[in-house]
Amino acid sequence: MTGHGKRERRKRPDRRGAVADRRAAAAGQPDAERRQGERRSHERRSTGEKLDVILDITRQLMAVTDLDALLHHMAEATAGLLGADRATIYVIDRERNELWSRVALGAGEIRFPIGRGIAGTVALTGETINIPDAYADPRWNPEPDRLSGYHTKSLLTFPMKGNDGRVLGVFQVVNKKGGHFTRSDEETLASLGASAAVAVENAQLIAEQKRLWQSLIETLAITVDARDQQTAGHSQRVTRYAEVIGRSMGWTGKDLEKLQAAALLHDYGKIAVRDQFLQKPGKLDEAEFEYMKAHAEKTAEFLAHLVFPLDMREVPMIASQHHERMDGKGYPKGLNADRIHIGARIVAAADIFDALTAPRYYKPAYPVDKTMELMKEMTGPHLDPRVMDAVKRALPELERTVEQLKPTWPKPTEEGMGTIAEAALSERDAAPATKT
Ligand code: C2E
Ligand code: SIN
Ligand code: FE
Repeated sequence: MTGHGKRERRKRPDRRGAVADRRAAAAGQPDAERRQGERRSHERRSTGEKLDVILDITRQLMAVTDLDALLHHMAEATAGLLGADRATIYVIDRERNELWSRVALGAGEIRFPIGRGIAGTVALTGETINIPDAYADPRWNPEPDRLSGYHTKSLLTFPMKGNDGRVLGVFQVVNKKGGHFTRSDEETLASLGASAAVAVENAQLIAEQKRLWQSLIETLAITVDARDQQTAGHSQRVTRYAEVIGRSMGWTGKDLEKLQAAALLHDYGKIAVRDQFLQKPGKLDEAEFEYMKAHAEKTAEFLAHLVFPLDMREVPMIASQHHERMDGKGYPKGLNADRIHIGARIVAAADIFDALTAPRYYKPAYPVDKTMELMKEMTGPHLDPRVMDAVKRALPELERTVEQLKPTWPKPTEEGMGTIAEAALSERDAAPATKT
C-alpha cells in the first residue's frame, strides 16, 4: 500500500492537470455526459485525497510516541474523511473482558462487556458491521445513547486486529452526514483501522515489557529485603528518597528511571550475607564488617547475570558503587570521586538517609535533624556536597516521605533495636573513632 500511495502522491499535480483538461474537453459536450465526467473525476480526486490522509496518518505512526494523542488524531481524521459526526476507538481490556473507549470524540468514557452491543459484537466476532439504522438492529445497545442524550443512526464498526489476528480493539464511526456509510467508507476505515491496530499493539507490547521489567526488579528487591526483618522495606524506601533527591537535582525521564532501578537493587548482594552478620544486634567487629562489605560487589556480580535494556546498562554499576566515598576510601573498589557515577552518589545519600531515619538492629531511628547533622559531617570525604545541596533543598519533601514510609519500618524485636533504641545514638556514632 505504501509504494502505491507514494506513486499517487507524486502524480498528484499531473492528475489535477488531467482533470482540468478533461473539464475543458467536456465543456463542448451535452450536459448529462459532462456531469457524469465531473462525478467520475470528483471520485478520483477524493480517492487521492483519502490516500493522502491515510498516508499522513500512517507516517505519523512512526513519530508519535503518545498513543492517546495518536489515536485521538486518527479518530478525528477518520471522522472528517468519512463525513461522520463522531468516532470512537475502543480498546479491549482482556483482564476484565471489557471494551473501553480509549478515544471518544464528543462523549465521555464508555465501558461495556465484550459481546454487548454492536462494538461488543465486532470485538467478539472480528467482523465489520455496517448498519444504516442502529435502532433497527437487535444487537444495538441503546444504553450509552440514553445516558448521553445522543441519537445514533448510521454506524460503521471495524475490528482492529493484532499481528496474530486477535481483536485488540474496535474503531467505530457514527452518523454519516446525509446518509449511511458506503462500501468505500468500509475500505477507508479498514486502512486507517489497520494502522491504529499497529499503534495499539506496539504500545501494548511496550507497556507489557515495561511491567515485566518493573515487577521483576521489584521482586528482586523484595526477596532481598525479606532476608531479614531489619532490612524490610529498605530498598523501596531508598528508591523513594533517591527519586526525591534526583528530582531536586533536576533529573527527569530515563535518568530518573535508571536511578530508581539502581536504588531498588543497590543492596541486592545482601542476599548472600549470612544471618549472623546481617542480624547482629550490636556493632560489627572489623572482620564481620569486612565480610558485610562484600555485599556491594555481590550486587554487581549477581546483576551481571541480568540482561538489562540498552538504556539501563549502567544500573548494576551504579548499584554496586553505593558505598564508594568521595575521598576514595569507600568500597568495594575505593574509587576516586570522579570515577563514582553521580547516580551512585545519590543512592549513597538516599541509603544513609534511610539507615539513619529508620531503626536498625544496631541503632535507633534518628529524627530528621539528627540525621542531617550526621550527614553534614559525612559531606566532603564521604558524601558529594552537590548531592547534599539537593538533599537540603528537598528536605521538606523528604520529611513528608519519611512520615509516609514509617509504616514500612522494621518492627522492634526483643533482641534487636528494642533494647538499643533506649540509647540516644548507636555505638558507632557514640565512638566514631573506632571506624575509618
Ligand atoms: P545499612 O544499615 O543499610 O547502612 C547503610 C549505610 O548507612 C552505612 O554503610 C553507613 O554509611 C550509614 N550508616 C548506617 N548506620 C549508621 C550510623 O549509625 N551512623 C552513621 N554515621 N552512619 C550510618 P556501611 O557503614 O558501609 O554499612 C553497610 C551495611 O553494613 C549496613 O547497611 C548494615 O547492614 C551493616 N552494618 C554497618 N555497621 C553495622 C553495625 O555496627 N552493626 C550491624 N549489625 N550492622 C552494621
Ligand atoms: C492499552 O492500550 O490499554 C495499552 C497501551 C498503553 O497503556 O499505553
Ligand atoms: Fe549497602
